[in-house]
Amino acid sequence: MKENTILIIGSGGREHALGWKLKQSSNVSQIFFAPGNAGTNQIGKNINIQSENINDLLKFAQENKIDLTLVGPEAPLVLGIVDLFKKNGLKIIGPSKKASLIEASKIFAKQLMKKYHIPSADFMYFADFNQAKKYLLCAKYPLVIKADGLCAGKGVMVCKNKKQAIKFLKQLMVNRIFGQSANRIVIEECLTGQEVSFMVVTDGKNFLSFLPSQDHKRLKDKDLGPNTGGMGAYAPVPFVNKKLIKEIEKNIIAPTISALAKENCLYQGILYPGIILTANGPKVLEFNCRFGDPETQPLMMMLKSNLLSILLSIIKGSVNEQKLFFKSGASVCVVLASGGYPEDYKKGEEIYGLNKIKDKNLVVFQAGTKEENRKVVANGGRVLGITSYGKNIKEAIKKVYQVIGKQGVWFNKMTYRKDIAQKAFLKKI
Ligand code: AMP
Ligand code: GLY
Repeated sequence: MKENTILIIGSGGREHALGWKLKQSSNVSQIFFAPGNAGTNQIGKNINIQSENINDLLKFAQENKIDLTLVGPEAPLVLGIVDLFKKNGLKIIGPSKKASLIEASKIFAKQLMKKYHIPSADFMYFADFNQAKKYLLCAKYPLVIKADGLCAGKGVMVCKNKKQAIKFLKQLMVNRIFGQSANRIVIEECLTGQEVSFMVVTDGKNFLSFLPSQDHKRLKDKDLGPNTGGMGAYAPVPFVNKKLIKEIEKNIIAPTISALAKENCLYQGILYPGIILTANGPKVLEFNCRFGDPETQPLMMMLKSNLLSILLSIIKGSVNEQKLFFKSGASVCVVLASGGYPEDYKKGEEIYGLNKIKDKNLVVFQAGTKEENRKVVANGGRVLGITSYGKNIKEAIKKVYQVIGKQGVWFNKMTYRKDIAQKAFLKKI
């Protein structure tokens, strides 16, 4: 392998964790992050180009002879960064603009699933407010309303009754709070069960599965409070046993990859369905066209295989020649967020105690941080993802919480959940 110089696009904990893992490969000599954070600048070099500025990213990659680019967030994928880089002869990991529609359009994803019998909630879709309203007036509740396009995770509402549903519909289609993303909307059946994140790498034909993981989307303990980008994650999920993994691979992953190929939409990259474990088996809630954040943090802690070889096999079409090996045991990531997040919050709080962590089984993946006068300060909603490895989930939980607070890592007004990974001890449905 001669992929010495790597460019990672994005600035979150996910990108820090991917860079941390890639850095362990002897073939990697330099990693650039665009735009990165204070943590990524310690393991590589930050470049001041935003992840959606795909033309400047191309120019940077050409001028700096980047051997391989890895895309973290969905926005540049949906804008067509992979098509642009490939057209210019550059190696890049991620699906094409067309294949990214699996995340960028919920209607595209739902129609694909329906056509190829991939289990998911029953649905209808509408492009007209009055017709959607008419449907909602006679529908059974609860139900779920989703904007078709990208809304940074905020375009979905589980509606308990008619009043709530019509209010949300108005916000989407009349007040246009998410602009064109809600030109069309989906109304779907409300499913119940535990949610699981299931990521695979695929070359469009074969795939390799990461350990199943679980995110914690709500701000507060016991899944209360508003939705966030994710307040913590852990892997593996004990109740997603080998049999259930096989079922997910057979009924969801394999048919989705082959459906996309049949639709002339070859999918190469990371495919990540959000899955709900219902009484009638696992069903897809949504597809993402990238690694999850914060699930990637525990997954990178658990991964034994060389990440660079795995990523390159996506482009070479040789995923079938690779294997993903994981440590036994478990990893837990707890996100420390700025007080007020996901609404307004203050930036600039100094972060204390980062150099107190000496245990090799604890890594602080940084997200919304920046360096200011030689200090690391909070610069976003989700600030840090403290991630532990332990011989089991209990040990990993204990280890991570021991270093959160004034005896370890902290900043003023930080907020975090105290129950990350407790779902591991629940029953699956
Ligand atoms: P999505 O962006 O489609 O994954 O939706 C965000 C969140 O809304 C999911 O993580 C679920 O908690 C919830 N959700 C989405 N679709 C459904 C559904 N059909 N039934 C119940 N909850 C859902
Ligand atoms: N953890 C949720 C996401 O990455 O979309």
